[in-house]
Amino acid sequence: NKVVLAYSGGLDTSVILKWLIKEYDCEVIAFTADLGQEEELDSVKPKALKTGASKVYIEDLRDEFARDFIYPMMRSSCVYEGRYLLGTSIARPLITKGMMDIVARESADAISHGATGKGNDQVRFELAAYHYDPSIKVIAPWREWDLNSRDALVKFAKDNDIEIPPAKKSPYSRDRNLMHISHEGNNLEDPWWEPDEDVYVLTVSPEKAPDKPTWLEIDFQHGNAVAINGKAMSPLEIFQYLNKVGGANGVGRLDLLENRYVGMKSRGVYETPGGTIYHAAHRGMEELTMDREVMNLRDSLIPRYAAMVYNGYWFSPEREALQALIDETQKTVNGTVRMKIYKGNVSVTGRKSATDSLFDANISTFEEDHQVYNQADAEGFIKLNALRLKIRSKLYGKKK
Ligand code: ARG
Ligand code: SIN
Repeated sequence: NKVVLAYSGGLDTSVILKWLIKEYDCEVIAFTADLGQEEELDSVKPKALKTGASKVYIEDLRDEFARDFIYPMMRSSCVYEGRYLLGTSIARPLITKGMMDIVARESADAISHGATGKGNDQVRFELAAYHYDPSIKVIAPWREWDLNSRDALVKFAKDNDIEIPPAKKSPYSRDRNLMHISHEGNNLEDPWWEPDEDVYVLTVSPEKAPDKPTWLEIDFQHGNAVAINGKAMSPLEIFQYLNKVGGANGVGRLDLLENRYVGMKSRGVYETPGGTIYHAAHRGMEELTMDREVMNLRDSLIPRYAAMVYNGYWFSPEREALQALIDETQKTVNGTVRMKIYKGNVSVTGRKSATDSLFDANISTFEEDHQVYNQADAEGFIKLNALRLKIRSKLYGKKK
């Protein structure tokens, strides 16, 4: 009986590790994915072994995360409920992929995770797990046990010789990776409470950010950022760079009351410094290079794409089909965008494309132009478009 556990080294998953051994009399293999959480992962291995894991796998998946998960999602320009850039949602399928690799390698029978029965993460982990192995058994301790409070967890830890992390620096439930950090719980459960500076980890407050703007030039190829200020970088390097600039300038803070897939509303505070710059830059590039109706169609699909990611359907036929359409729309998204970053604000201040600019100053100019655009044509255009409005007016009289 072998179980692979998604292990973070924190109190919850340490208790789960021990609880699995006791409750299921099984061998537990700990798995930790490095997705850029920047905690020292050095202590994870000894801790897992000491708590009773038979083996520990720590995999650096940062490049894959940036290239095969964050980048395809960013090509869609998607946001959940108009605001959330999906930093936790997009990480779950990759953690599960890594975990299922270990399941296959170790011929394990089950997986386990520390997501509660009230949240989105359980759905994301488990949908992805069933994609990789339809017969995998899932053990979700939070849905089974009666350790329903932090006090109960701490007591279990004490009784079982599990090291309790030094009095937590913060009382929030947090999830950090290359894309963002999320903060939930505690004071934030009062939606009227304004987050204080203690909540934030990745960003300075816009008030304290430098009084001088920072400019960046970002090159895009097929909708992917490939260079900053003329220097070619990998997706991972791009995000590391943008996180630094964004964090130092107070970019990417978000206070959101969102709808979880399981049906409840929940309050989250997010810091997405690099992702916020990237998202704005990408849209800036699209403004110049994307056809109006293509953009219209794509924009209409953003809520759908975002829901697929948020609800855990990354590995699904509908997300893959939509991705194919998104990627088709990105073929022309080539060129350079100039960004100005200043005290929490991100603006596009310039865009150019040698190959795919749809902007033609000769057409849109206010100056004289007889070759390509004949102003007299506009009269018929307006009259035909007015036809049904005229008919309605004749029938019902003019509306107030
Ligand atoms: N509400 C966000 C989401 O569903 C963040 C979840 C954070 N998860 C966590 N285990 N702390 O994507
Ligand atoms: C959890 O409930 O485990 C974290 C929050 C979420 O999954 O939505």
